[in-house]
Amino acid sequence: MQTLDRIDAVRRLVAGRRRDGVSVALVPTMGNLHEGHLSLVRVARSRAGCVIASVFVNPLQFGPGEDFDRYPRSFARDCELLAAEGVEVVFAPTVAEMYPAGPAQQTLVEVPAFSGMLEGQRRPGHFAGVATVVTKLFNIVAPDAAVFGEKDFQQLAVIRRLVRDLCLPIDIIGAPIVRDPDGLALSSRNQYLSPAERRLAPGLHQALDAARRRVEAGDRSWAAIEAEACAVLEAVGFEPDYVAVRRALDLLPPDGADAAADLVVLGAARLGRTRLIDNLRAG
Ligand code: PAJ
Repeated sequence: MQTLDRIDAVRRLVAGRRRDGVSVALVPTMGNLHEGHLSLVRVARSRAGCVIASVFVNPLQFGPGEDFDRYPRSFARDCELLAAEGVEVVFAPTVAEMYPAGPAQQTLVEVPAFSGMLEGQRRPGHFAGVATVVTKLFNIVAPDAAVFGEKDFQQLAVIRRLVRDLCLPIDIIGAPIVRDPDGLALSSRNQYLSPAERRLAPGLHQALDAARRRVEAGDRSWAAIEAEACAVLEAVGFEPDYVAVRRALDLLPPDGADAAADLVVLGAARLGRTRLIDNLRAG
């Protein structure tokens, strides 16, 4: 496995693989890898001859006061895990390589359809930061396919939309959420949890699951379902940001005509200093 930190080196390598007729899949990450990330690599390997993973903690997608500085970094271990999964190249650029004029001067990619709701509403600028870095990675690697986790359901919607809106010839593949046996979705941020918080953390999945069961039982009182899930979260020690029943396709609130539509229950809640997100498909 090669580790590259320069854009031109990645371009040269990919151009060589393409000349050999090999297809390329990209798995973008911020490192501190766990089984969720590795599951994406396995999907990528099943779809392409050459898998490139990126490891870049992207300052552009963190708001002021968020956890950019303390975000866990474990690059040597990440590389061991990626090599064991058959990744051919790890692209791990510096901030200066990605944003030579500084993040503040960076041209941005905005995806307005999704940036004002749910995560976008609570984290202003977050999805512009994600969309911008992912567009840059797409332009650097020019992959045939890229794999993203459904754990970040809204992020996946943002990426699908930007690829469509900017006519990028890249197949976007969504991969299912990998969970611990108690239901907690794996996340690099789970490391922030104290042992006591970790014991409470599956409560987010449980609250969303209860909401999902109501939806699947035919209950269409979205506001009541959402309010009950937030109340359950509060009762077990979370500070809920939101629980929302939305249409999976465009994340808009369902109306009467969507009774049979593909729905998703999304939630975000804080446990102490740690903000967790999760979602479950319904219907
Ligand atoms: P990061 O949080 O490192 O996640 C990288 C990829 O792993 C994302 O597609 C995410 O949805 C997926 N992932 C994380 N936890 C998962 C789980 N439990 N099951 C399945 N997939 C999971 O998401 C980002 O980084 C960044 O925003 C990025 C796209 C790299 C842009 O900077």
